This record gives sequence, C-alpha cells and structure tokens, in this order.
Amino acid sequence: MATTNSRPRLQYLLHLAQDNLDFRLPEIKALLALRGKPFQPNENFKEKSPFWCLDGLSEEDVRGIMARSVCAKSAFELWGHGKTHSELRTSLLNYPSENMSPFMHKDSTYRINVYTFNKTLEFSDRIKRIDALEYLPFDGAVSLKSPQHIFCLMEDYGTDPNNIPENPDYIYFGRWIADGQRELIRSHSVKNRHFIGNTSMDAGLSFIMANHAKVKENDLVFDPFVGTGSLLVACSQFRAYVCGTDIDYNTIHGKGRSSRKNQKWRGPDENIRANLRQYGTEKMYVDVMVSDASKHVWRAAALFDAIITDPPYGIRESTRRTGSHKDVTRPPDSNYVESHVPVSQAYHLSDIFTDLLNFSAQHLVIGGRLVYWLPVYIPEYCEEMVPLHPCLRIISNCEQTLSSHTSRRLITMEKIKEPEELDGLFHRADPRFSPYQGHNAFREKYFSGVNKRCIKDDNKSNVNGE
Ligand SMILES: C[S@@+](CC[C@H](N)C(=O)[O-])C[C@H]1O[C@@H](n2cnc3c(N)ncnc32)[C@H](O)[C@@H]1O
Repeated sequence: MATTNSRPRLQYLLHLAQDNLDFRLPEIKALLALRGKPFQPNENFKEKSPFWCLDGLSEEDVRGIMARSVCAKSAFELWGHGKTHSELRTSLLNYPSENMSPFMHKDSTYRINVYTFNKTLEFSDRIKRIDALEYLPFDGAVSLKSPQHIFCLMEDYGTDPNNIPENPDYIYFGRWIADGQRELIRSHSVKNRHFIGNTSMDAGLSFIMANHAKVKENDLVFDPFVGTGSLLVACSQFRAYVCGTDIDYNTIHGKGRSSRKNQKWRGPDENIRANLRQYGTEKMYVDVMVSDASKHVWRAAALFDAIITDPPYGIRESTRRTGSHKDVTRPPDSNYVESHVPVSQAYHLSDIFTDLLNFSAQHLVIGGRLVYWLPVYIPEYCEEMVPLHPCLRIISNCEQTLSSHTSRRLITMEKIKEPEELDGLFHRADPRFSPYQGHNAFREKYFSGVNKRCIKDDNKSNVNGE
C-alpha cells in the first residue's frame, strides 16, 4: 500500500459543481477553517472556474473537506497542468518521480478518465487523449472495473456555452483522492422526505448552510424558525445535536393540512423527529417546541454552537408574533388556558433580524456562527442594508436570485465577543445596527406582478398559519 505522508509540497485540485457559485468559496473556506487550515489558492485562481488549485494542504485535509462539501464534486492530487497538451507534458515530466511511483509500480492497477468541462468529446477522441499520455511511466495493469488508483485528465473549455473554443483553455492531470457529498442532495431531496411544508428548505442549500456554519460533531445547533426541520436534518447528518422552535403549533406537532399533492391532512407520524429517523440521525434530535422567536424562552447563556435559520419573509408563510397593539390586554380566562390561542400581530422583517442578531449575540458560544437568509429587493439592495451587531462579525454574504427583481442573501456571522452592558440589546429602531428597511420593498415589490392573492391570504393568517 502506498504511503503518502513523506511527500512534501503537493498541490490539490478541486473540481466544483457549477451551481450555487456564490456559496462555494465560503463553503470551502469554512471547511478548511474547521481543520485549522487557511485557503491558499494558486496564482491562477478564478472564483467562477470549476477548477481550483489549492496549496498548503495534506491529503487528509482534502479527504476531510470532501467528506463534507456539497459544492465540490471531486478532489485530485495535481500532477501536472498547462494551457496546452505540450505544456501539460512538460509539467508532468517535471513532477517528482518519487511522488508518482507509489501509484504506478508493476503490482498496481489503474484507470485513466477523461473529463471535459463545457464540451463533449467523442469516445475515439477520449481514447486518443489517453494514448497521448504514453510518456507517463505506468507499470501497473489497467483495470477499468476496480482499479486501485484512478487518474483523470481534465480539459477546461471555459464557462461560456455560446462560445466554446476549439482547444481547451486549460488542462489538468491528477490522481483522484475523493468525491464530495453531492449524493446527499439526491438522497435527502425534500421530494422523498417524510414530513414537508410549503417552505421546506432545499437539501443542497441546507447542507451548504450547515457547512457555512462550521457545524461539527457533538455541536448543539438551534433553528428559531424551524418549520419542518430541513436545517436540522442537514446538521444532524454532520452529527450535531439539533433543536428548534416555531410559532406554528400545527407545524411543530405535525398536524393540519398536508403540503403534498393528493393528500389533504398530515399523517400520524409526519413530524421533525420522523424526518431525522428517515435518515438514521434520530439520536441527534434534542427537541422542538412551540415558541415565538420575538419572546424567546431561553436562559441568558451561551447555549448554542450554531444558529441556522430561514426566517419567514411573509410570502409563503406568515410573519406574525404574539402580542397586541392594545395598551392593556386581559390574561386568558383560567378555564380556557389550555386552548387559548394568543392574539398575534405583524412581525416586521427588520424586527425579525434585529431580534435574531440580539438572540445570537447572547446565546452563541464565542466563535459560534449564525447563518440566515435575508430577502432583498435587488434594485434597492446595497451592502449597508445587512444588519450588523457589535458582537457578530460578517463572514460571508452570498446571493441566490429568486426573480428578476428579488433575491435572498445567505448571511454568515461569527460571534466575536460577549455582549457588554453598553452594547445592551441594540434597539429595533436603531438605524446604526438595523438599517434593513427592506420589509416593505421586498414584500410589496415581490408581489408586484407576481401573485397578489398570496399577500391577501398572508394578511389573513393567524399565529397557526391558518
Ligand atoms: C421559511 S419557514 C422555515 C422553513 C424551514 N426552514 C423548513 O425547512 O421547513 C419560516 C417559519 O417561521 C415560522 N414563524 C413565523 N413567525 C414566527 C415567530 N414569530 N416565531 C417563531 N417562528 C415563526 C413559520 O411558522 C415558518 O414555519
């Protein structure tokens, strides 16, 4: 068996999926940070490219990243690269033979794959590409079915599908190390999930959020707007303990109308715990409860390693909180305490974010991360709209476009200090820290010409979302 410990200064090549482009760099940086490693790209680094060469890593680091990444497809130990096949040849022939030989000796078996990005090659051309590598000193036997080592020749034809060059822009050759976790996107698809709702978060984005939050084994993760628990599902997959709250009694108790086509009511075991059971992570389930995020019930302490959430935008679910506009309210009659449904009032988006940042500043451990979605109206968006807090520093801000004029931004913040007396709880009305005034712009403009009926329905709903 080849040993890889004594081979210095290796470069690794990541092959990334060309979707969710904005989310890839923060994901890889967060996974590196989990291993205490900096992000060190080579001098040709282009963020939008499907290929990134990284320095300063060990094979173990790369395997660790690939065991978590849903943005990276595969990783390779880079043996050579160049703008042309002739440059590739020179580069490969300069690669230290002691780095190659453990994988090429006569008792080994191997296979070479040819991968092209933004161009399809005929089978015969692929074979020609492999034959042209005859200058590499492979002594082992070819095994297409179960090789010990897999090598890959990768040709990059750029990112413009309307302008595909005759020859590749760049070529890489490397030894395959590991695949990423793209399979999780399929295996955890909400289409086949036991318990879903109208706003269940897409599996791929849920895993990306868990990665941006640097969730790790035995962490305690909290989602204050838990809904059907998609974010808890993702975090439990990475072996974190998970808990959440939601104002909607029906969602927390898995009751009420089903979101599935052809099914009127939710079945008996449609709840978040059952979702975790479906993926074999029930032991990471702590609990969920009905609670209003604007009036949380937690003792004042740093309780959570990460807070990951998708707050309501008031488009497909209501943005309500308990409380009344009246100056004086009567407590419920003692005969009806059990069945009492509190009055609710609108929960303004800017208040939601102020409360969320205040809550995170109080309840995250130092170094713990808050990851949440901020909806924006694109023509009016500027970076200054992102809410700030003296105890939280912004790590990343990635855009996902929703329509020609609306998008949502995935904001990642890290707790850097405990709140001090003077920081207080910063105020909802304080424009220094909560300049996000996107509520009306986002909601009203989202609906302009989109679906006016939904906003009417939304205004009618009460705290149970009914
Ligand atoms: C966008 S959904 C979350 C979806 C969730 N990530 C999932 O995958 O199902 C927002 C949730 O916030 C809840 N919500 C609305 N107002 C709330 C409040 N004041 N406190 C707690 N939860 C609230 C809604 O009931 C809804 O389930």
